[in-house]
This record gives sequence, C-alpha cells and structure tokens, in this order.
Amino acid sequence: MQTALFMCAPEHFGIEYEINPWMSLERQPDRGRAKTQWESLYRFLTCDLDVDVKLIAPVANLPDMVFTANAGLALDKKFVSSRFRHKERRGESEHYEAWFKQRGYSVHTLPGRLYFEGEGDVLFAGEADAYAGYLIRSDVYSHAAVADLLGARIVSLELVDPRFYHLDTCFCPLSSESVVYYPEAFDSYARDVIKANFPDRIEVTEQEALQFVCNAIIIGNHYIQPRGGSENLRPALEARGYKTHEFDMSEFIKAGGATKCLVLKLMETTKSTRGYK
Ligand code: ARG
Repeated sequence: MQTALFMCAPEHFGIEYEINPWMSLERQPDRGRAKTQWESLYRFLTCDLDVDVKLIAPVANLPDMVFTANAGLALDKKFVSSRFRHKERRGESEHYEAWFKQRGYSVHTLPGRLYFEGEGDVLFAGEADAYAGYLIRSDVYSHAAVADLLGARIVSLELVDPRFYHLDTCFCPLSSESVVYYPEAFDSYARDVIKANFPDRIEVTEQEALQFVCNAIIIGNHYIQPRGGSENLRPALEARGYKTHEFDMSEFIKAGGATKCLVLKLMETTKSTRGYK
C-alpha cells in the first residue's frame, strides 16, 4: 500500500500579495495553464504511480492553498497544524484543521507564538530523522515542539537565502544516506551538519536550484520534479537508480513553489519508512 498524498486544486490560485522574492503582483500566473500543469501532476501520481491522493476543496481568497505542503505535518493520525509567518496565509489553517479532524486525526498546534510552516520546512530522511529549516519562515524553536509531538529526532538547518525560504526549495533527502541540495542556501554550520549526516550528497548548481529541481516528490525510485537540472542532477540520479519525471511548473514557480510544494504526505510509521516505499 502507498502512503497517501494530500492536494488542493488551483481553482483560486493567483498572486494577490508578495511574501517571497518570487512573487510579484505584476506577474500573474495564467490560471488555465496552472490548472493544466496541476492536473498533469495529479494524473501522473494517481494513474501512473497509483498513489492515493486525497483532495481538500479550494477556498476563494486563499490563493496559496494549492501549496498543501505548508498545511502542517501529518503522521499516524496526528496532524500538527502550521502557524504561518505571514498573515496572508493564516486563513488556510482552519480549513486544513477541519479536514483532518473530520478524518479522525488529532489536531495539534504549537505552544507559544512559534511560526511553523509544515512540510515546507520539515522533511524526513528515512525512518528515524527529520531535517527542518528555520529562520525565514519557521522558527527554530518550533522544531523541538514538533519533535515532541511526533516523537521524532529533528536536525535543524539554517536557511540564509530568501529565494530558498522553505527547506523543500533547496533540500531533498532520498534516504537517510543520500540527499539532493543546494549548499549555498544554508549557513556554514548547516552545511557541515549535512556533510556529517549524509555520506552521499548530490549538490545542485545555483542555476539548477533556481529551476526548483530540489523541490521534488520521491515515490519509490521516481524523482518527480519541475523541468531542469539535466546537466548535473539527472545523471547523478540515474546513476543511483532513480527515474526522473519532469513537469512544467512555470505558473506555480511565479508564486515560489513547484512539484513538492503542491503535495503533503500523509505519513504512516507502520511502514518501513516515514516517507514512501
Ligand atoms: N507563495 C507561497 C508562500 O510564499 C509558496 C509556498 C511554497 N511552498 C513550499 N512548500 N515551499 O508561502
């Protein structure tokens, strides 16, 4: 059985505010094209890979709700809801919380006023460890609270480049040993931590990173990414037995997101990993 994913169709997607360097009110996405791009990803996941994708109904005036990775973290019927740094996205949370509650999840929020942006900033690498980004969106102290709630070990990594404001824009663990990442998005201590923890590292160039190639969904040996990264990343992945699948994500990149941001994993630890198998 596959781990399920959680997505939201781009019915109300658009750029109505600017909360990251990619977003400009002057550069609106084409909604029709966004719909086609989202649907081809959805179809690939559900039809070709047979992934169970659960959908939440899109809500008007919440144009970033399509980026469900930021809803929170879902693990074994526990949902840790995000606390968005920007007020523009805070209205999404009540809809996510209601969806998870209705499906029998216990819904948790973080203590204090800690900002936390869900799977955008927390990625599991294999079974035991999760890596979490902080500074630009999530607060570092949120990691300890999330670790407590989920009973996981979390390794914190400082993000320093505003273009790579969520961990999933510049870091993609393949397993507990291997990672794809853009080193310059991290401070030097985080780079050392990554080196110490991952014996096998695929470093992408700035040009590849700007195409969001680290923003990938991994299902088994499939690496599902936006277009790009052919010079360096694709051969490195193929050498490790991965099959890459590229999707045109041009409209979502205008809002600072791509393939990985469009999905949230509904993880279950009863399987051999917290991610997919
Ligand atoms: N416009 C959204 C924001 O700035 C994009 C979110 C992308 N999500 C992600 N997981 N990186 O919050």
